[in-house]
Parts: sequence; structure tokens; C-alpha cells
Amino acid sequence: MLACPGSGKTRVLAARAARLLSTNERGRLCAVTFTRDAADELKSRILAACGKSNAVRLAVGTFHSIALSQMRRNKNSGLGRLISDGERLSLIRRCWQQHAKRLPLESIVQAIDAAKSRLEWQPSEYPEIEAALQSYGEILQAEGSIDFADLMLQAVRDIQSKAMPPLSIRWLLVDEAQDMDAVQMEWVKAHADQGIEITLVGDDDQSLYSFRHAMGYEGLRHISEYLSSAVMSLPINYRCPENILRHANRLIAHNADRAPKNVEAFHKSPGVIDVIRLSDRWSEADLIASRIQAESEKAQWAILARTNNIIDKVEVAFADRNIPYRRMGGKSVWDKTVGSTLLGLLRSVGDGSWTGVANALYFAGMAPRLVNELSRIQGATCHERLDQIIAEYDHSTSPKSDETLLMSLHDGMHNWVDQDKRERQALVIHAVTAWLADRTTEENEALLRRLEGILCRLNGSLSARLMKAASRSKAVGKGAAIMTLHAAKGLEFSNVWILGAEEGNLPHSDSTPEEERRLFYVGMTRSKNRLIVSSAAKEGSASRYITESELKPCQN
Ligand SMILES: Nc1ncnc2c1ncn2[C@@H]1O[C@H](COP(=O)(O)OP(=O)(O)O)[C@@H](O)[C@H]1O
Ligand SMILES: [Mg+2]
Repeated sequence: MLACPGSGKTRVLAARAARLLSTNERGRLCAVTFTRDAADELKSRILAACGKSNAVRLAVGTFHSIALSQMRRNKNSGLGRLISDGERLSLIRRCWQQHAKRLPLESIVQAIDAAKSRLEWQPSEYPEIEAALQSYGEILQAEGSIDFADLMLQAVRDIQSKAMPPLSIRWLLVDEAQDMDAVQMEWVKAHADQGIEITLVGDDDQSLYSFRHAMGYEGLRHISEYLSSAVMSLPINYRCPENILRHANRLIAHNADRAPKNVEAFHKSPGVIDVIRLSDRWSEADLIASRIQAESEKAQWAILARTNNIIDKVEVAFADRNIPYRRMGGKSVWDKTVGSTLLGLLRSVGDGSWTGVANALYFAGMAPRLVNELSRIQGATCHERLDQIIAEYDHSTSPKSDETLLMSLHDGMHNWVDQDKRERQALVIHAVTAWLADRTTEENEALLRRLEGILCRLNGSLSARLMKAASRSKAVGKGAAIMTLHAAKGLEFSNVWILGAEEGNLPHSDSTPEEERRLFYVGMTRSKNRLIVSSAAKEGSASRYITESELKPCQN
């Protein structure tokens, strides 16, 4: 089933699954999608339509979770220990340091991902990368471990070699099928080969994961040929107002390789569209927050941007005004480097713990090796430890600049702790922020100042303020949803605001204009009512996609 956004693909998939289960007394059904949230949502929709009694014959999950339970059930497969993401990264780091230190670490991570998104091993053309890849594989094997990507690979190989039976199901349904990589596709094909009936639902125009080797249009073409499938389309969009859909279609028409589709809007009444240009990113974030604050709390908003960095500023602007928000599919600004360093150092002022001091030193430019060494020096509180470190400082082996840094943090700490005891919290927050702000980039400095403002406006002791700040982003259910464009796929909102629409950001310089165009298209087509697109002059000229989609600033 090949169809446009909002045409009811997921709805049809769920309805079909429910019908297959309720009209057939026998047979199990498996539905697969790409995120756990989407899987949970799909499962509850199917069961709502066919009754909970069918739950025993239904499995819904991501490719990885389904393959994992498939492998676990099968004793012959000798499934290794699944390593965590953190373990994986430190293992990759070791292989990189040994074999390919001259190249960026990221190139090894990417090479491993790429190698494991295919069934056949393709040696890298760079001997260093190949050596790192080989050693990564050998270490995993020696330790009897596997990583997430191995799971799918091994499942396909085991089914193909008959070491493992395919899932014992009658029907297999896949949502967002344009995002399958070659290995996932082989897994589907291996099940089709056993006579299992396959339903794929997808939209090549919403393929956003070529950087994770999703096969997009090519893939959908290949598999539907392989399955000799009947291709159906859903020509009506039930989500977007007619004018928003029209602009979105103008945009996506600029992509060359795509499936031909007719798309028509069910809702003929026009939605509100606006295009806004501001001076800089903070003005953009502040305008969003103040506009939404002025509206009824019932208005459902999604704020979408290309990167989490841009999203951080929106989060700060919301927190600043005490407007509820939900940060979806990404870390809160308080959990990232700048936010967590500020909160950590303030925590150390309050409770004398060392971690916040160590992170602040690293943030301020001290070499990680030295920070780690310092962390071994004992002391009851961080103040005692700083005293000790300065007393023992070895001028022959360690640079003067680090000593100056230590001295200034040492003096600062004494001062801040003293002020905190006199309950001058705002003063402490101001001074700690200034210490960090003096030692970082201009961009981080601006962010620090805003976080300072939020903390100063809260009430109570330092620890109470830190708790309040850090817990706010975790409030669920209420407020505007703030997320990246990638995270918004599959979702819909009454009002959508896409910010950061500048050349360099959208299209982003890391990707292709076609893939970025799909991303913008996905963003536009999330809207059920209103679409606002904004950009900041300081960040670059307005995105070509605004021109291509023929979006214009509001007349009134
Ligand atoms: N036949 C239909 N009639 C009315 N509304 C529909 C119909 N199909 C889908 N919708 C509504 O349109 C929206 C998009 O449906 P969804 O299944 O999420 O689309 P897709 O997966 O294609 O993006 C949902 O709000 C859904 O309830
Ligand atoms: Mg969908």
C-alpha cells in the first residue's frame, strides 16, 4: 500500500490486522514498525478494533524486538549476549584507537553501521577502517556477544540456512516500510518465502533515514516486484487542510525519483499559513513561546526543527515563561552538556559533591586525563579535595593554565558556599554561571545566561531549584510538543511551527537536498490546521524549500 501522508496508512494497517484476526479463527499475526511508541500505539489500535481476546495471536513490535524474541525462542541459534549502546561505543572506541586514530571516530561508527545494514560483507576501501571493523567483529565473537545490528543479520542468516524456523504466523504487516534497510527487507522476504502473507504500508516521500541505510523508493520497488504484490494507493489525505497539502505537494514535486501519486485533500477549508523571518535564533524561540502563551491552553502545538540544538533554545524560551511543554524523542536541555554542567556545579556548591566540579573543569577546558587523575584524590568534600589538589600541584608535569583554572574554581567555591549559607541563592547562581560563561563559546554563553535567568526566577534553596528545573521537562501529557522533524513522522497536530528554515539547516549541510526536502515535507504534512515556518537572518538565507513550496507571509 503506497500512499501519501495522512491518507490513513496506519489506520488501514490496523483495521486490516483487526479484520484478519476477527474473521479467522486460526492463525497468528505479526505487525512491525520502527519505534516502540509507534508499536504500542498500533497494538492498542488493533486490539481496540478486534477485541482483547485476540491478543494471544497478535505480536506487535519493532524489527529488533520481534527478531530478539524470535531468536530467544529458538535454542539452536546460540544467541550471544546483547551489548548495550554504551558498551558498543566503548568497544568501537578501543578499535578506533588501535587501528584508525588518524580518522574521526564517527567514520568507524558509520562504517560499522553500513557494513551491518547489508547481508554480504563489503570490505572498506580504507585499510584502517577495515582493520577496525575486523577487530570489532573479532572482539564481539571472542566475548560471545552481539550488537543490535547483529540481531537482524543473524535472524536472517539462521532462517535462510534453516537453523531457525521463521515466525509461526500467517500474516506479517509492516508500517513505514520505506524505512526498511536491506537486512530488514531480507527478513521480510525470508518470511514471504515460507508462504506468509505480507502487507507493506509506506510512502517513499517520507523516507528520512537513508543515513541509516533505509532503502526508500528503490526498496519499495524491489520488494513489491519480489513479492509480485498488488500495489494499492490511498489517494485522499484526511489530515491537512487543502492549501497546506497543496504547498507540500509543490515542494515534494521537486524530488526526481519518487512514486507517482495523486493526492487530494479531504478537508477543503483552508488552514492558516504564515512565514516569518526574525533576526536571530533566540528571537525566533521567544516569539514562538510568547505566541503560544497568548493562546488558549487547549490549542495543540508541535514545534519542529532540524536539530536538537535548535530545539534546546525553544525549550529554554518555554521554561523561561513557565509554559508547559513536552520534549519528545530527545534529551532535555538540562540533561545536555551546558545544562548539566551548570546544574552539577551548583549541586556541588550545595552538597560538596565532586562530580559537578570535575565536569566543570572539563567544560572549562582541562584535559580529560588530568580531570580523571584529580578525581582519584580523596577528600570528604569537593572543597577539601580542591585544597588538597592545589597543595600537591606538580608544576613540572602539569600546565600553568590548569593551575590557574583550579585556583579560580577553588576561590569561587569558597565564595559561593559562603553566599549560599547566607541564602543568597540568586547571587550564587549568577556567579557560578559567570564562571562557566567566561570559559566557553559565545553560543554556550548565551544559553548559560538564559538558564541562569530561569533558575533565578525559581524560589527556594539551591537544591529545590535544581530539582524543579530538571523535572519540568519530564512532565507528560500537557503543553506544546517540542521535537525534531525526524521524531515527528507518523504524528499529527492541530498547529505546527517549523523553525530554523535556513539554508544550511534545512537543507542541512550533512545531508542531500532530496532527503532534506522529504523532511520538510513530513514537517508540513503534520498539520491539521495551522502551519508557521520561521527562520533567522543571522543563521542564513531563508530555506529554498519556502520558495519551492510557494509559501508566503500572511497578508493580514
Ligand atoms: N477514511 C478516513 N476517514 C476519515 N478520517 C481518516 C480516514 N483515514 C484516516 N483518517 C484520519 O486521518 C489521519 C491520518 O491517519 P493515519 O493513519 O495516521 O495516516 P498515515 O499513516 O497515512 O499518515 C488520522 O487522524 C485518521 O484518523
Ligand atoms: Mg502512519
